[in-house]
Amino acid sequence: MQNLIEAFTNILDKQYVLDSEEDKAPFLTDWRKRFSGKALAVLLPKTTQEVAQIVQVCASNQLAIVPQGGHTGFCGGATPDNSGKQIIINFKRMNQIRAIDVENQTITLEAGCILQTIQEQAAAQGFLFPLSLGAEGSCMIGGNLATNAGGTNVLRYGNTRDLCLGLEVVTATGEIWNGLKGLRKDNTGYDLRDLFIGSEGTLGIITSAVMKLYPLPISQWTTLVACDSVASSIALLNLFQKRATSLLTGFEMMTQESLSLNEKHFPQMANPLQSNPPYTILIELSDHESEEHVRQLLETVLEEAFEAGIISDAVIASNLSQANGFWQMREHITLAQAAEGANLKHDITIPLSSLESFIAQTDRLMRESYPGVRIINFGHLGDGNLHYNIAPPLGVDPQTFNSSYEKPIHELVYSQVERCQGSISAEHGIGQLKLQELRAHKGSVAHNLMKALKMALDPQNILNPHKVLSI
Ligand code: FAD
Ligand code: MLT
Ligand code: ZN
Repeated sequence: MQNLIEAFTNILDKQYVLDSEEDKAPFLTDWRKRFSGKALAVLLPKTTQEVAQIVQVCASNQLAIVPQGGHTGFCGGATPDNSGKQIIINFKRMNQIRAIDVENQTITLEAGCILQTIQEQAAAQGFLFPLSLGAEGSCMIGGNLATNAGGTNVLRYGNTRDLCLGLEVVTATGEIWNGLKGLRKDNTGYDLRDLFIGSEGTLGIITSAVMKLYPLPISQWTTLVACDSVASSIALLNLFQKRATSLLTGFEMMTQESLSLNEKHFPQMANPLQSNPPYTILIELSDHESEEHVRQLLETVLEEAFEAGIISDAVIASNLSQANGFWQMREHITLAQAAEGANLKHDITIPLSSLESFIAQTDRLMRESYPGVRIINFGHLGDGNLHYNIAPPLGVDPQTFNSSYEKPIHELVYSQVERCQGSISAEHGIGQLKLQELRAHKGSVAHNLMKALKMALDPQNILNPHKVLSI
């Protein structure tokens, strides 16, 4: 072991090779505190060359590597196992914006750039970097790419994969693949970029990326709307898609139960809709024309929705601070859940045409089988992506509840997902959390192809083993 530490200190300055228990501790437990592990060392490289050299040492010694960004992932993908034999490569020092190409509307970023910093730097140049999610103050672009993160702007701009034009990757042998071309068309055989995106550090280590930029909208209007049912929420979405087309940039759903939990832990986050409806919808329109244009459009569509009986109440944010308040309310649900204790997350997508049936049946079965459970259902309705999370009945200890019911509750939800031809992971990935579920729901042909790819790209299985695939 000492030899390995020495080998790493030949690559990195000693202060960037963390091997004391105290120094390693902050890197060993995931955000949800669900997974904890041990590491031989935590390495903090500054350059792609250093990453490549580290991987070469690991490849020669069959040492497993866990790539780590902001460690905000929900599936334990960036947490090492308990062997104490894996190393973590954390990207916090690789945080340079290498270039902003104004004409090509692209930004070239190192893997450790914090998402919020990227948004701010892009805005300073008059551009929008549209990826946006609750963890943006700490998650990193390398982690976003490795998980193909979604967030709140997917409806208009797509997920991280859709925003990426090129990658630089260190392979399992320690070679550097330079695919940093900012091209919108490139049909030169297999798409390696798309293979690495969403692979959660199991096929290669992302060190840099070329990402798309968009013109910064000049006006944004945000509204909270009351819907009485899932059917009316979807009718509202369809109406906005038809009338507002590409101006529709956000369409998020929060149930009454989700917002009550929010209010319990963050009383300042009370729902401004006095009616406290079963479904509160947050809608955002963005425009490149004028304030009046989008405001007028918003009012017209809301009026139409009132007249059609689709919505019963609405409040339009009158200024930026109120609009931010609406978004804060949405994004605090995750924090409220964490404050309440351990919960069972389901990050699923359902075709919009089956969503009503999914929620009706799953809610009914859940309440019949587990009386008193709290269904914290919210999410990116515009993408058909629900965070159908389950908290134990009030007064029941979460750990005790989860240890008895985690498996059957997951099975209940995922069998309904299967019935509706949905996905068991919309945007959070698989990590070490959903290995069995992936095996059960991906289908054997797809699962075997994934294994074949893993064996081809990482035959020694040193890149984040036992994540995504249980090998
Ligand atoms: P990490 O957690 O450090 O790593 C995630 C995975 O990527 C691991 O498997 C890791 O090994 C791998 N990895 C990291 N860096 C690299 C690299 N450079 N090369 C190869 N592999 C790498 N997610 C969403 O999709 N949508 C949301 O709306 C959303 N909201 C969230 C809200 C909160 C409050 C929190 C805490 C999390 C949320 N997440 C959401 C989950 C999480 O933020 C995302 O998955 C994010 O993309 C993870 O980025 P990270 O830098 O923290 O990655
Ligand atoms: C979000 O959209 O806020 C997160 O992805 C959801 C979660 O906490 O499950
Ligand atoms: Zn989400």
